[in-house]
This record gives sequence, C-alpha cells and structure tokens, in this order.
Amino acid sequence: MSRIAYVNGRYLPHALAGVHVEDRGFQFADGVYEVIAVQGGRFVDEGHHLNRLDRSLTEIRMAWPMSRRSMRLVMREVIRRNRIFRRGIIYIQVTRGAAPRNFAFPASVESSLVMTARTLPPLDPAAMREGVSVIIVPDRRWPRRDIKSVSLLPNVLAKQQAVDHKAFEAWQVDDDGVITEGTSSNAWIVTAEGELVTRRADTAILSGVTRRMIMAICAEHGVTFAEKGFTVDQAKSAREAFLTSTTALVTPVVHIDGDSIGGGEIGPITERLLAFYLDHMLKPQDQYL
Ligand code: PDD
Repeated sequence: MSRIAYVNGRYLPHALAGVHVEDRGFQFADGVYEVIAVQGGRFVDEGHHLNRLDRSLTEIRMAWPMSRRSMRLVMREVIRRNRIFRRGIIYIQVTRGAAPRNFAFPASVESSLVMTARTLPPLDPAAMREGVSVIIVPDRRWPRRDIKSVSLLPNVLAKQQAVDHKAFEAWQVDDDGVITEGTSSNAWIVTAEGELVTRRADTAILSGVTRRMIMAICAEHGVTFAEKGFTVDQAKSAREAFLTSTTALVTPVVHIDGDSIGGGEIGPITERLLAFYLDHMLKPQDQYL
C-alpha cells in the first residue's frame, strides 16, 4: 500500500505528492514543523505539540493554515489513510506559502500545510535499554533554537558526523563549553555527585515535549532534578546520561566521544524514567488538550 501525504487540502500517494517549486519552505526554509508519536492509534501529548506549533508560528509571524480543530481532523485522517493503528509518527510542516522569490514576506499568500506519516515497529523496551553512543560537536546553529524551524542544516551536518563515527547522536556544545542539546533530542545527565540535570529551556534549545513530560514524571514520582547546563567534562564523568525525544523516547547514552558512561550500561535513574515514560505513552491520553 502506498503511503499517503496531505498536501494543501489533498490526500495524495507519495509518488504524486509535491509542493510548488516556489514554496518558501523549499527556497528559504521559511517554515516550522512538529513530529508527534502515535501509540495505540492515538497521538501522544498532542495538545503540547500543537501548543508548541502555535508558539513557533507566532514567533515567525505566520498564521495557522487552518483552525486547530481542522488540523486535528486532518491529522486523524492522515493516520487513518496510512493505516497506523498501533505505533507510528506524523510529521506536520507549515510554511509561508508559495510566492515569487523575494526575501520579505509576500503581501498576501496562504501558508502551506503538509503532513506525512509512517508506521514504526512495535516498542522494544529491551533493545531501548541497551543505550547509544554520542559524539560532541560545536553548536553552529542560530540563536533561536526554541523555534521548531525547518531550517536544520547544522543539525543535519552534525547528525551525519555522528553517523560517520558510528554514533547515534551528536551533542552540541556552546561557546562556553556547555552542552545545549542533541541534533534532534534533548540531553540529560546524572552528574558524578548524583544530581539529575538538563539544560534550562531558553532560546538556546528546543523545549522538547518529551523533556517536559519527563520533568512532570519526576515531579509526580519525587525524582529531584535541576534545569541547568552541564559541561562536556561533567557529561563524560557522569554516572548516567540519556536523551529524550518524540522518536527516541528515553534513550540511555552509554558512550560519549568513546568514553563509557555508567560502565556502558543503563543507570538506575534512566531505567526508572524510561519505565515511567513508557507507561505515560501507553496510557489513554486526553485528546482535547
Ligand atoms: N526532534 N531538540 C531538537 C533540536 C529537536 O529537533 C527535537 C525533536 C527535540 C526533542 O523534542 P520532542 O521531545 O518534542 O520530540 C529536541 C524531532 C523528533 C525531529 O526533528 O524529528
């Protein structure tokens, strides 16, 4: 069965789905996006993702392409047409529409909305516990990383560098030697002193929905944490490290630039948070947030 994409009001097989050659997303990366997980046929933390989409759109002075209610209907139709009954993801992209190429905003143009979705294999908690390697790279992105912009070239290059080094992710470091985040995930450690930390979500990082959920889970279960930056040295001498994202959930980091973390195995706090997060994903969610 061919995958179906939603493109500006039409549901099309991927082979036929395309945007205008002068779409501003294509020419200027003038757009924003969201990736939302589907679990048990339902969207995970849909309300938080749509709130973040709203914020990204506002920050770049772009209107919603349709009402939030319509958007939610289209999202459901996209997963239905792609037969995602169990686990998958949906990708939603909004750009400032198609107009003759000119840096300034077009006078009146409708924004473009594209959605794609795909099925993912069932969750495999045992495989997730094995952990991954990350490398450290300089953060070469613009200073507004809080906006989920489709302008992702530095992230793409850093991720490829990770792949070239047989690593899963690249943790980016700011000019002060403090880790910002991964190319498509947030970074966490349990320091040598035993403190769970993740960087504060200001403009230097994306405020991950998974990150927020982990913080809520910590609060609920009495796991103390601090929102503060940590250096590369702190990361390399950490007791535990992990990363969070919509697609990677809670993934233990067991090597940083080749140095093993926690003896190369998932640590106890990561293990607990992964278990709590899987529970969170699997429980029925409020679809009307
Ligand atoms: N990436 N930081 C960056 C730079 C990201 O691109 C992402 C998400 C995250 C984690 O955010 P969340 O927990 O809301 O997924 C952090 C998505 C998954 C992507 O681009 O595919």
